[in-house]
Amino acid sequence: MDYYKIIEVRDFIEKNISIKPETGIILGSGLGPLADEIEPEIIFNYDEIPHFPSSTVIGHKGRLVFGQLEGRYVMAMQGRFHYYEGYDMKEVTFPVRVMQLLGIKNLIVTNAAGGLGEHLSVGDLMLITDHINFFGDNPLMGKNDDRLGERFPDMTYAYNPELREKARKVGEKLGISMPEGIYMGVAGPTYETPAEIKMAEALGADAVGMSTVPEVIVANHGGINVLGISCITNDAAGKAGKKLDHSEVMEVTEKISENFSNLVKEIVKEF
Ligand code: HPA
Repeated sequence: MDYYKIIEVRDFIEKNISIKPETGIILGSGLGPLADEIEPEIIFNYDEIPHFPSSTVIGHKGRLVFGQLEGRYVMAMQGRFHYYEGYDMKEVTFPVRVMQLLGIKNLIVTNAAGGLGEHLSVGDLMLITDHINFFGDNPLMGKNDDRLGERFPDMTYAYNPELREKARKVGEKLGISMPEGIYMGVAGPTYETPAEIKMAEALGADAVGMSTVPEVIVANHGGINVLGISCITNDAAGKAGKKLDHSEVMEVTEKISENFSNLVKEIVKEF
């Protein structure tokens, strides 16, 4: 039973930490350096944590960091489990369940994404206002566990309006412009075709990426407030008249990393 596995991991973690974290952070591709700015109390490699999905696919990057960021006690996932790696939706979202039972109130979810919206440029940090689940799957499929949340969770405020307002103010204060937009989550691992990007545009998406949606669904089910930030790493397929390249995606996240870290640190202070 999943529930008892989550309890077991919570108890395992609680034995090792002195303060309960209130804020969770999931760091997307290339955005991991922020975790190095946390003054750690304890760092777990994913393969040290019972019941965490086996990290053979994810390699050695997967770490869960507990400690102080700007004087706030946080827990941060450095690296996440992606659906395209072959993990199922329950595995992808297992860490969010652990956050839920640890009592996390607010979750900052971040990712790298291709930009579609006219108002977006490469290098922007987009504040996610809403999402479109295009995975063709949902982590809440199957029997509902009422101890974790309700059968039909509302998704009207999936990206918490108050947290968004706080993030907007922090952006203004730091002079980091944060355009807003709708994130479409797709399974990957192929980048989209130009035709799929036209479809995504027609459906109202501003950015597209291969993560985030599953974790945000589970966070909402579990009563955790979500703030979502997309790092726009490239113009979506067919927009720039050239091929997409993962190394370019990584280069952009590297360049934007400092702004991103400053923004998230300041946001965490406001929570
Ligand atoms: N599409 C999907 N996922 C992505 C992209 C993209 O263009 N860029 C970064 N992650």
